[in-house]
Amino acid sequence: MANIDWNALGFGYCKTDFNVRYSFADGKWGEMEVTDDEYIKIHMSSYCLHYGIELFEGLKAFRGVDGKVRLFRVEENAKRLQSSAERLCLPVPTVDMIVKACVEVVKRNERFVPPYGTGASLYLRPVMFGTSVGLGVKPSDDALLIVYCSPVGAYFKTGIKPMPVVIDRDQDRAAPRGTGDVKVGGNYAASLLSGERAHKMGYSNVIYLDAAEHKYIEECGACNFFGIKDGKYITPKSPSVLPSITNKSLRQLACDMGLEVEDRRIPVEELPTFEECGGCGTAAVISPIGKIFDLQTNDVYEYGDEVGKVSLELYTRLQDIQYGRAEDKYGWCTIVM
Ligand code: PLP
Ligand code: COI
Repeated sequence: MANIDWNALGFGYCKTDFNVRYSFADGKWGEMEVTDDEYIKIHMSSYCLHYGIELFEGLKAFRGVDGKVRLFRVEENAKRLQSSAERLCLPVPTVDMIVKACVEVVKRNERFVPPYGTGASLYLRPVMFGTSVGLGVKPSDDALLIVYCSPVGAYFKTGIKPMPVVIDRDQDRAAPRGTGDVKVGGNYAASLLSGERAHKMGYSNVIYLDAAEHKYIEECGACNFFGIKDGKYITPKSPSVLPSITNKSLRQLACDMGLEVEDRRIPVEELPTFEECGGCGTAAVISPIGKIFDLQTNDVYEYGDEVGKVSLELYTRLQDIQYGRAEDKYGWCTIVM
């Protein structure tokens, strides 16, 4: 076991022992390579550096109550990686290649999988980019796919305590037929300025609205948004929202709890009617929202300082599966060791 203060972990990079790589060159993928090198050497005129031909994924491995290490929904992340690669005209790795790389990374870095009971987990970061050298705007023939990992704690300092967020219409995260529904670096670059503005004002995150009309809720920073009211779990349907694997899982768990699930547009005016709301994602798990301040209209929506009953139950059910405390009845976990 690595010598780490597991309880003090935040969400940051921590060096581990090995990472795994595949190169695509001369029209084919090479064999999986395992290395302890944290660095890569690429040409200064690689397409990824100039035209943002880059995508990534995020998934977690958990040490369970039974000591086993579980990787959560890795095939789903692999499929989403494929759709990001297709969108960026990059070579598309197979699901099997991606899953094998993730399993290998966990096995090779077993001593960095946090102990059960610390609330921490091993975050896996597959990252892929175009490495062909050129100058004109065109797809990259060659690519590098790396899967590395880092032990992490909570993404938001507030943890499961409700966070304050802002609505910002000054900058949009993603256009309706742009790249919002895939996990590419450019979406995150586009969100930085509004995110920094919110942080300087003391808010944890930004709620983005649809870029066409600024009428509907899209995403909550690097999380999907959900609202709870009248026995319903409601989450935005939009072509520019990332299809969150956590949200997909929560929709199933909400169903199991007897909630009705609505996947539809959510107008801003509906915000005061929610009993609870929050953000969900791999890094954030469930991060309840305590307050929303609308930067342009000055409207304030408040949901209280304590996590709501339904959000807490969803959080508990999800983590119970991830930590092996409840039956994995949908087969979401891959037992790595
Ligand atoms: N939305 C955005 C923009 C994200 O970056 C993420 C994080 O991956 C999510 C939603 C949540 O997706 P997932 O639950 O698959 O991690
Ligand atoms: C995740 O939740 O895995 C993310 O990718 C969010 C963020 C760290 C970019």
